[in-house]
Amino acid sequence: MTRRRGGKRPIRSNGENGRYAHITGWGAEVPERVLTNHDIEKMVDTSDEWIRERTGISERRIADDRDTTVTLGIRAARKALKRANILPDDLDLIIVATGSSEHLFPSTACLIQDQLGATRAGAFDLLAACSGFIYALGMAAGQIKSGQAQTVLIVGTEIFSRITDWNDRGTCILFADGAGAFVLQVSDTPGGVREVVLHSDGSGGDLLSVPSGVRATWNGSEPPPKSVIYMNGRDVFRFAARVMTSAIEEVIRNTGLMLSDIDVIIPHQANLRIIDASMRSLKFPSERVIINVERYGNTSAASIPIALVEAVEQGRIKANDRLVVVGFGGGLTWGAALLEWDVIPTTASYGRDVLREGLYILARVRSLLNRMMRFLESVFVRGPSKSHWRLLKRSENSPPHSEPKK
Ligand code: UT7
Repeated sequence: MTRRRGGKRPIRSNGENGRYAHITGWGAEVPERVLTNHDIEKMVDTSDEWIRERTGISERRIADDRDTTVTLGIRAARKALKRANILPDDLDLIIVATGSSEHLFPSTACLIQDQLGATRAGAFDLLAACSGFIYALGMAAGQIKSGQAQTVLIVGTEIFSRITDWNDRGTCILFADGAGAFVLQVSDTPGGVREVVLHSDGSGGDLLSVPSGVRATWNGSEPPPKSVIYMNGRDVFRFAARVMTSAIEEVIRNTGLMLSDIDVIIPHQANLRIIDASMRSLKFPSERVIINVERYGNTSAASIPIALVEAVEQGRIKANDRLVVVGFGGGLTWGAALLEWDVIPTTASYGRDVLREGLYILARVRSLLNRMMRFLESVFVRGPSKSHWRLLKRSENSPPHSEPKK
């Protein structure tokens, strides 16, 4: 069998045509506030021992009132842009994976685009619950490989604490807040996101859901369901253990590799028992699996990026490592991606860092001026109306536009 430099089996190229989507920047952001199992013991009938035994979680991070999916996402994105040493204007596309955005629209992606000052970028949100980051990786890599984009920012950002029913012990012990971001850039050097497999099964939609305010019909005799997480934990558990294994096997098979060619697996951080069960059935060594669920809980679309960023920063991922990231969640959705960690070195430059920070300030000023100009134009050209004042007041107070904390 042909082996490439470093004695590694070559990866079968699937329609890459000389355009590869490399990860060149990364960053994560978690809120400072820690909520321990002991804190949750005071809220619902549970115990630290039960939560640790059944989930592996000891503590999680919860956003304070000033944070939103936008502010967490912006902070993670800024770190990723800095690491990639690019400017906001270099971005062609921003994809945000989130299941806890403040609005159906505007998308979290558009609000992040505005605050970054990424004036050339298209921006949209993608909703695939906890599999969102894998879906975003697939969309970003597809755009780059097809020649539609050169540079794409993907962000997984969640504030699940605001859609959690804090009286439901079956869910409030699990979910938490955080964000992670990656910059993907085109290169003709083989590497980066080599293969992505995505799956769905809407027949299991009721196993894990968050009703929105938009309902086609509602039985008037009962109050409508609250916009919180409803979950059948046992069934989700069974589904998760099964699809995690099958998605890992499929993505590896598609590239002509074998499990023994994989250096590290980064699973969605939902429950330690799900991760352990899948790795046991694959017979994959546990020391090569990245796990941080004990400290962050389940941050949904942000869980894989946070775990990956942490692993890179701890030196657990080295140049030329082959990684599999794998996720599952509401929808039902699941998927996996195979990455070659061939990071093309970028030389950090102080001047560019200063320029980037200046551009962020400029972006805020431009955003404010744009809104002011729209308001003035409507008042002086078309005449004032009550709705103009209302809209201006709302956009000034709206949390998505608030100053992200450093
Ligand atoms: O990103 C994807 C999101 N979701 C998931 O990955 C969730 C997957 N599922 C799970 O993680 C687990 O099913 C849970 C952690 C949610 C629950 O663990 P389990 O071992 O599947 O427990 P269970 O639902 O089978 O419940 C066992 C018992 C029940 O009591 P009875 O009926 O046997 O008397 C529950 O009422 O444990 C009880 N229970 C609790 N007890 C103490 C459920 N939640 C709690 C709790 N503390 N927090």
